[in-house]
Amino acid sequence: MQTWFENYKTIIIFLHILSAVVWVGGMIAIKFAVHPVIQTIEEPNIRLGTNLHIVGRLFNLVMPFIALSLICALIIIKGAGYAGGFIHLKEAIWTIMSLNYMYMYIQRSKAQTLFNRGDLAGAKAKMRLLPTILLPINIVLGVIAIFLGVMLRG
Ligand code: HEM
Repeated sequence: MQTWFENYKTIIIFLHILSAVVWVGGMIAIKFAVHPVIQTIEEPNIRLGTNLHIVGRLFNLVMPFIALSLICALIIIKGAGYAGGFIHLKEAIWTIMSLNYMYMYIQRSKAQTLFNRGDLAGAKAKMRLLPTILLPINIVLGVIAIFLGVMLRG
């Protein structure tokens, strides 16, 4: 494993960092650049429909990168022989972020179904916590995970 890891170290760490860039960067872009602009759309139907569409695309985009970040992390830990508190902290952060992501994914899907049926109020209620609480939680945790990654590298 060690020799194999030495040969592929650069690409595996690159993929771990790329996953972080897409996952955390994607959420920051949606929250701070895309969402505020969508809120300026006056027609409620178009505003909510666009929101659902964009968030749905983000969630599908990041899904493989969530898995990739963990796969690469596990290879790095085994290959480089990492152990200790920071590793467990990063594992815990990844788990919370993934559970939060899954919850948001399900809420968005339910909101889409309600929206397609014409239940605008119901769809809006399902999406309420996403931009205000759930997405910011994952952004903060993601930034902490990046910082811990830098600490681990030393
Ligand atoms: C939650 C999502 C995660 C994000 C956003 C993230 C982000 C990062 C980043 C940006 C680095 C590179 C730091 C640098 O080059 O200085 C890094 C390194 C690292 N991460 Fe993660 N990480 C995540 C999850 C995990 C998990 C779950 C683990 C382990 C269970 C882990 C273990 C590591 C290790 C061991 C390194 C050091 C790699 C090396 O030796 O260069 N990461 N992480």
